[in-house]
Amino acid sequence: MMPPPGAIWAALPVPAFLVAPENGVERILGCNPAAELFMSATSASLEGEPALDRLTIDAPMEEALSRTRANRAPIFINDADVCTGERPPVLCNLQIAPLAEAGDTLLLLIAPRDIAGRLGRTQATKSAARSAIGMAEMLAHEIKNPLAGIAGAAQLLSMGLAPADRELADLIVEETRRIVKLLEQVEQFGDQRPPDRRAVNLHDVLERARRSAIVGFGAHMRILDQYDPSLPLTLGDADQLLQVFLNLLKNASEAQPAGGTIRIRTFFEGGLHLRRKGGPVSLPLHVEVIDDGPGLPAEIADEIFEPFVSGRENGTGLGLALVSKIIAAHEGWIEVDQRPGQTAFRISLPVAPPETQVEAQAEAPPDTKE
Ligand SMILES: Nc1ncnc2c1ncn2[C@@H]1O[C@H](COP(=O)(O)OP(=O)(O)OP(=O)(O)O)[C@@H](O)[C@H]1O
Ligand SMILES: [Mg+2]
Repeated sequence: MMPPPGAIWAALPVPAFLVAPENGVERILGCNPAAELFMSATSASLEGEPALDRLTIDAPMEEALSRTRANRAPIFINDADVCTGERPPVLCNLQIAPLAEAGDTLLLLIAPRDIAGRLGRTQATKSAARSAIGMAEMLAHEIKNPLAGIAGAAQLLSMGLAPADRELADLIVEETRRIVKLLEQVEQFGDQRPPDRRAVNLHDVLERARRSAIVGFGAHMRILDQYDPSLPLTLGDADQLLQVFLNLLKNASEAQPAGGTIRIRTFFEGGLHLRRKGGPVSLPLHVEVIDDGPGLPAEIADEIFEPFVSGRENGTGLGLALVSKIIAAHEGWIEVDQRPGQTAFRISLPVAPPETQVEAQAEAPPDTKE
């Protein structure tokens, strides 16, 4: 057992584990009393046990642990199901942190969401945000029509006005447009439509996103691609995935001054699995949207996927919430990798099963002639 980290360790109300790799297997080196209670097992009986067998966590833990070691920076994973033996899974927020001088040993904190709530990141706030969305959606729908009327009337008015007054009328038009846009985002977020998943070439979707970025919000950016041309098809809803990449590109543009660089990278890399009820899901297709901006504002860094969390003056905070909702519906995974001077959002997705790939080929229009 590691030297016990002291009184705080014992008093910590959150289950805490020390984890280190041994011959490629993550093992439990020790745990605190809260963890013993959580696991219904003694610390002595847990020591040396494979951590990810005793704790079945619905998140790519192997990867998260090795990345925490590589970057020596903590990683937060919210809303993961944690299973310990026979009990039904518990929804938890996880934190993985390197220990200052303990080499490969990591601290793994598993806060069941009820504890997480008591410790400040309140469940109430979150469910309030969720039910606020239902309300907002309804309001959005109701407000849009009269707004269109206001904008139309202002536009008509402005035609007959002197230049100084016209400026004011134009302001009304512009601002109403902004509100309509915001309302559309709220409506879109509330749209519960499940994805219509087919075999999709991610590069087609990325190119569509890149083109609309270049002519729109990303006009002042350099958007480079670094595609792996042999990337297999994924199983996805092309329109919803387009929305995902647009939102990420938009954030990356907003994080940097004009002239900044955004890179879109795709690659194939096995090893990332999600543990799902129907068995593990492999996510070997990765898309990264990388920018050279200053990174996430520290005070919201672990909440950016929650609705209405924004670090920008005019942000609605719905962009990433929508991204995470869509990716979850695709059984995919999203992660942020921050290092000095570089922020990367990585989306990981499954490969389309062979039968859907054949279907896609049969449907594709013939593009080559003899
Ligand atoms: N690439 C990035 N670099 C730095 N900060 C980012 C990046 N992407 C997101 N963020 C931060 O995360 C916050 C939440 O992003 P999100 O897309 O959910 O909302 P938003 O961009 O503020 O508003 P919306 O997308 O609805 O217009 C942003 O306000 C910003 O502070
Ligand atoms: Mg955004």
